[in-house]
Amino acid sequence: MGLLGKDLGIDLGTVNTLVSDGGEIVLHEPTMVAVDVEELKIVEVGQAAREMDGRVPDIIEVIRPMREGVIADFEITMRMLRIFVEKVCGPARLFKPRAMITVPYGVTSVESRAVHEAALQAGNREVYLIQEPLAAAIGVGLPIATPSGNLVVILGGGVTQAAVLAMSGIVVADSVRVGGMKMDEAIASYVRKKYGLVISQRTAEEAKIRIGAAIPQDEERTMEVQGQDQVTGLPRPITLSTNEVVEALQGTLLLELAAIKNVLEHTPPELASDIIDRGMLVCGGGSLLTGIDKWLTRETGVPAYLAEDPVDSIAIGSNRGLSMLERLRRNLPTV
Ligand SMILES: Nc1ncnc2c1ncn2[C@@H]1O[C@H](COP(=O)(O)OP(=O)(O)OP(=O)(O)O)[C@@H](O)[C@H]1O
Ligand SMILES: [Mg+2]
Repeated sequence: MGLLGKDLGIDLGTVNTLVSDGGEIVLHEPTMVAVDVEELKIVEVGQAAREMDGRVPDIIEVIRPMREGVIADFEITMRMLRIFVEKVCGPARLFKPRAMITVPYGVTSVESRAVHEAALQAGNREVYLIQEPLAAAIGVGLPIATPSGNLVVILGGGVTQAAVLAMSGIVVADSVRVGGMKMDEAIASYVRKKYGLVISQRTAEEAKIRIGAAIPQDEERTMEVQGQDQVTGLPRPITLSTNEVVEALQGTLLLELAAIKNVLEHTPPELASDIIDRGMLVCGGGSLLTGIDKWLTRETGVPAYLAEDPVDSIAIGSNRGLSMLERLRRNLPTV
């Protein structure tokens, strides 16, 4: 804990926001906000807002204030963060927290400044930014302070990032604004084309999580999916199987792969040999897709392995980063 208040690590993501305090995850909520559009008031945030999605009258709009890794709605993001910080620290906040908050690799300085400002206005006394791949590496406990190279791949909901780290900094990296949400869109579009059925993002995501995979599976799983017939407008179910989802995901996977390959191609030979030896660490929610490690290994020739806590480690690493400020400072984005 800092002298005057808590030290928080915040992973502000397109799909999920996590807060870590004392090395533990103390908050994990969907990055969603339900807004009363007439009174311009926040009705719910996080899980409670997600549950309202598609089930409330028109005056309440459920929105995702982050898009492709960056803030799409500053005011809503800031107010959502403020509610999250209050949840974690209590409302009195005599002593305001310090926070280290993530930004994806490759965002513009205007975009990272917005994150810094939102975190400040949300009630933090001091705010530091950290690039997600560095936070992930710290959270997982990779030996990043050494001169040897480590490859970290983050498969997020809105962004895919790949970075080679050495000496506590990023040596080569790339990112694409493609991730889990694009996969959901791809599944929905596949079902629309093949079955003439319109399904929601939420249903598409559920199919991806429950039966999806990166590579064809011998033992397929199936799921009944409810949608709306494109022609009649009436509700109708279909049965979707694993290998259909695999097919739907290939386009998105290839876009993600391009960023990883680009990093491998630009990695200096000295570090490249470290990476072949150590393999690539994969984290983010997308790493939970069945077979993704096998697929990445096959496509890149570099052994891919999953982090133990692939989703939590980024927030935990940001939290830990606050106690390593002196060492990290020159490698953190400035605003
Ligand atoms: N078992 C699973 N299989 C495939 N995808 C999954 C699984 N579990 C979660 N996901 C996906 O992971 C994504 C969320 O990951 P994560 O929480 O790392 O993203 P984020 O940090 O919010 O986004 P970003 O970092 O890109 O801004 C969602 O798209 C979700 O559907
Ligand atoms: Mg993320």
